[in-house]
Amino acid sequence: MASTIRPRLFITQQMPSQFIHALERVFELDYQDTPTPLSPEQILFRIRAHPPDAILFTSKIKIDKELLSVVGDKLKMLATFSVGYDHIDVKECQKRGIPIGYTPGVLTDATADLAMALLLATARRITQAVRANGEWGTSCDVMWMCGKPLTNATVGIVGLGLIGLAIARRLQPFSIQRALYSGTREKYFDSNADKTFFKYVPFTELLGESDFVIIACELNEHTKNMFNKNAFEQMKNDAILINIARGGIIDQDALYDALTNGFIGAAGLDVTVPEPLPKEHRLLTLENCTIFPHIGSADVSARHQMAQICVDNLFNFFSGKPMVHQLKL
Ligand code: DGY
Repeated sequence: MASTIRPRLFITQQMPSQFIHALERVFELDYQDTPTPLSPEQILFRIRAHPPDAILFTSKIKIDKELLSVVGDKLKMLATFSVGYDHIDVKECQKRGIPIGYTPGVLTDATADLAMALLLATARRITQAVRANGEWGTSCDVMWMCGKPLTNATVGIVGLGLIGLAIARRLQPFSIQRALYSGTREKYFDSNADKTFFKYVPFTELLGESDFVIIACELNEHTKNMFNKNAFEQMKNDAILINIARGGIIDQDALYDALTNGFIGAAGLDVTVPEPLPKEHRLLTLENCTIFPHIGSADVSARHQMAQICVDNLFNFFSGKPMVHQLKL
């Protein structure tokens, strides 16, 4: 580093100590070293008191116009510990010339694994089954706790990006019949097997044809609430909806109605609005809704790689080098 004055870095989250030690060799740290999440008010208070040159944060932290104005001109870059960036007011950053580092690629497998866990848990009613331990001798119905099979199923994937494709690859050994996908553009596949297996279809066709629908697209102005009453009415009555992307893609009131009125069979959500869902939220009362606490990328290797990219993005930027992964604004 050329300057002897160390840039100030605000870290909003607890992180493994080796990354903190690496960062404190270069930065003056303001670090949230407890698992208790900071409230938006606490964050504003801290950055107003000591404006940072950079902020390292996760998708749980909203970087909006207000926060950016409070930090003011001192802020030189943002490092998000995520591949998604819907929690950042990207247009405002662009206006202020603040570059954003992010962590694509390294959480693809972890998120696809979790999507499979959520899909199987929802399809085979795993949470209900665990709760039913101790009671199961009370039913002699051979159809007790029956779920929905994947074999020969049609699976619709909304957004066949890196994560969507990794989920599809994991589904193939489960003998699904075909994968429909919708999104901004058709994908090119080399192999004839893939050309037969994957079919690019309009969103409405995907809804009407799929036994399982998996949301793996980004949240933006086009996808916000795209799963609304109208969408649920077009789905099969026993369809299973899985969301590992962002909660805002689903209209949760419409989902509750769809799950209780039988428009769809069940839902598995790793993401919700808000996060976490309040304990008394009505979606949490439904037996046909499995909810995970946004743990898509929560495997040790993925989280370590994400942390390393954040550190490298910060080091590179403050040494005048290109970041490893900079969001194209
Ligand atoms: C991401 O990186 O966007 C994951 O959803 C974790 O927030």
